[in-house]
Parts: sequence; structure tokens; C-alpha cells
Amino acid sequence: MMDLVFYNISQLVTVASGDSARAGSAMRDVGLLRDAAVGIKDGRIAYVGPSDGIDISDADRSISAMGKTVLPGLVDSHTHLVFAGAREEEFARRIAGATYAEIAASGGGINTTVKATRAASKVELTEYALHRLDSCLAFGATTVEIKSGYGLDFENEIKMLEVISELRDLHVVEIVPTFLGAHTIPFDYKDRREEYLRIVLEEMLPEVAARSLAEYCDVFVEKGAFTLEEAREIFTRARGLGLKVRVHADQITAGGGSELAASMRASSADHLDHISDAGIAQMKDAGTVATLLPGVSLFLGEPFPDARRLIEAGLPVAIATDANPGSCMSENMQLMMSLAALQMRMTMEEIIVASTINAAAALDRAATHGSIEVGKQADLLMFDTPNYQRILYHYGVNHLTTVVKNGRVVMERHYASA
Ligand code: NIG
Ligand code: FE
Repeated sequence: MMDLVFYNISQLVTVASGDSARAGSAMRDVGLLRDAAVGIKDGRIAYVGPSDGIDISDADRSISAMGKTVLPGLVDSHTHLVFAGAREEEFARRIAGATYAEIAASGGGINTTVKATRAASKVELTEYALHRLDSCLAFGATTVEIKSGYGLDFENEIKMLEVISELRDLHVVEIVPTFLGAHTIPFDYKDRREEYLRIVLEEMLPEVAARSLAEYCDVFVEKGAFTLEEAREIFTRARGLGLKVRVHADQITAGGGSELAASMRASSADHLDHISDAGIAQMKDAGTVATLLPGVSLFLGEPFPDARRLIEAGLPVAIATDANPGSCMSENMQLMMSLAALQMRMTMEEIIVASTINAAAALDRAATHGSIEVGKQADLLMFDTPNYQRILYHYGVNHLTTVVKNGRVVMERHYASA
């Protein structure tokens, strides 16, 4: 007896990959089945195969997916969803010609959000983040990584991580927490860099680890943020305390962030607009996922990262939103997928792989998430499109009708007839 069955699925995109990321030409295989069915039992996938191979009368609920497309739940492996305040002012300045770096250097940027986030209560931050998680889910993300990094002192970094931890009990989207105490030097430590680093190393990291407040440690490695040497020290300490590593690398300048990510066996290195050939080769050896963030390029009016170069070099590429108030104010994974097609010349198959199994691998969850295979967690999406290509091609609108998380239908769109 199945709990839930989707049958007569016109296109079932399984992305069946076993338990690892796809790289190179394997990124072009989405494991497409036609006229297929998926059976779900106890929160897991129990059947994947032809529609006539499953008895729908032997299911608690069955949903016809005739003329529709079913995909694995999308994984958004890079967000900064917990914050207060917004930055429309800076957006206006950028539209008028100022760059992101200029705004940051003039005291705006991340520090604007740090001030607002420090002033906000946990209840307020939770409210704001719940709304944003609703948006993530509405566009198909069933698993979302969230970073701290707008507290930037002991009290407020811990406050952010406590909020992230509470969100896990409050929202159906599955949340993966990351500590980003090294996001930038906060304005009030401007002339006390050493002291801030000491607080990250000696106070924040031990507390985060002791209370299991984060699974990953991230550092923004960039001119104006943290140097390679500082990042190496932070990652070494984080590793020693049992945290895994992910990196904001090579976004604005080629700073050796990718090479550092590889040497730290990072799960993922993200941005990579200016990655070097050595960085690519070393990440490939280390098994580090290359996460690209097309929404940032769009939002900042910068050239898009060279996805073709990374895929052709054999790196597993993922895409994510980087949802945050400064460099990409959007939680919409479907939009990122269309951008990847239009602006990064990824094939539609590569993009689906990048948003599902490879993004799951970027969060060390490829064995349980990111594909529709028997035994995996039942996270899946039904789109009101006759094929998977239509989701990307017909862009800027939401094609999602049904979301299943852990085997439960958690979102369904219905339009009443007149
Ligand atoms: O991932 N690159 C650094 N940090 C964020 C932007 C954060 C902000 O501007 O608030 C990013 O793009
Ligand atoms: Fe980011």
C-alpha cells in the first residue's frame, strides 16, 4: 500500500545518479521517463517506473500527472535568507552606475544589513525569514542552505544561528545551517581586524561547534573581506571542531579562493567568476562542487561566470540563488535556471542536474536528496508543463503546481472555476 502515487506522468525527470554528483558529459543525462509513475511510502520513494506497473487503487492518494512534468525537489545550496532591512537605496545607486564594490567601500553593502540585523529581535528575524522560505518553496526549493554573516559579533552571529535553528522546526523547507562569521570585517571593528579574527576563532567557532549550530563554516575570500591566510586559519580551526567547509571564492577578483577550497576539501566553492585553471584542476581532484550564482551576475550587472569552461573541465557544477539583500534579492530557483540557460549557455539538462543532484552534493546530501530513485527521500515537484524544457523556456512565471516534501504534499495550487 503506497501513501501517495503520481501516475500518467508525461515526463518524469528522475536525475537518477545513485549517490554522487554528475560531472562533464554525464551532466546531460536527466534520466527521463515518459508515461511514468512514482510511488511514495513512509516519506521515501518506493516505486519509479512505467505508469501501468503500479496499482493506483492500492494507494491512499493518487494524483494524475497527465500532461505534466515531475522533477526532484530543487536544492538551493547558497542563501543568506536571515536578515533585517532592505537596500533599495543601494539598488537605486547601482542602477545609476555605482558598483557593488564602491558601495561597500563607502560604508554601505553588507554592513548596512549588519546594522539592521543587529537591531532586530529573534522574533522579527524569524518572521522575515519564514516569508522568504515561503517564496523558496513556492518556486520549488525543498532544501535550502542558510548562512549567518549579518551579525558579525558574538551575540548577533549566535542570534542568527539560533534563528536558523528555530526555522527548522517552523518551516517545511529543509534547512542546512552555515556559519559565516567571516563575511566581512564589521564596521565597528574596522581598525581592530586582529581582534575580530580572534573573536571568530576563539569565541564564535567553539560556541557554534559546541552547540551544533552549524554544519558548515564559510568565509568570503576577497579583497576588502578576508585574505587567503585568514581564511585558511579559520577553516583549519573549523575543521578541527568538526565543521565542514564551503567558500565564497573568486567572485570579484581571482584571489586563490578556489585553490584554498580544494586544499580544505570544501564541499563547495561558490561564485567562481574569476577562477584560475589551477583552481579548476585542484577542485576537480578534491571533489569540490562548483556552485554558480547567475542571479548575482544579473543583479550586479556583471559578466556571467564561464559555466562551459567548468563543465568541460569535468567539474560538477551546481547553481543556487545566493538570495540576499545586496547581490541577489530573489529566492526564485526557476528564474536562476532560465538565467543559466540564457546567459551561461548551459544546456537545459545540465541546468536541471545543477539544481538537483549536484546542488544536493554541494550540501553532502547526494545519497538522500536530489533525484527520484527508490529509497531516496520523497522530495518532488509537479509542473504544469508538457515537458521539462518548457519550465526554463517559458520564463518569469511560476509553473509549479504541487510540492511534496518528505512524502507529504505541502503545497498545491488550485484555481477555482468561475
Ligand atoms: O554572496 N559575496 C558576499 N556576500 C554576499 C552579498 C551579501 C550582501 O551584499 O549583503 C554574496 O554575494
Ligand atoms: Fe553569498
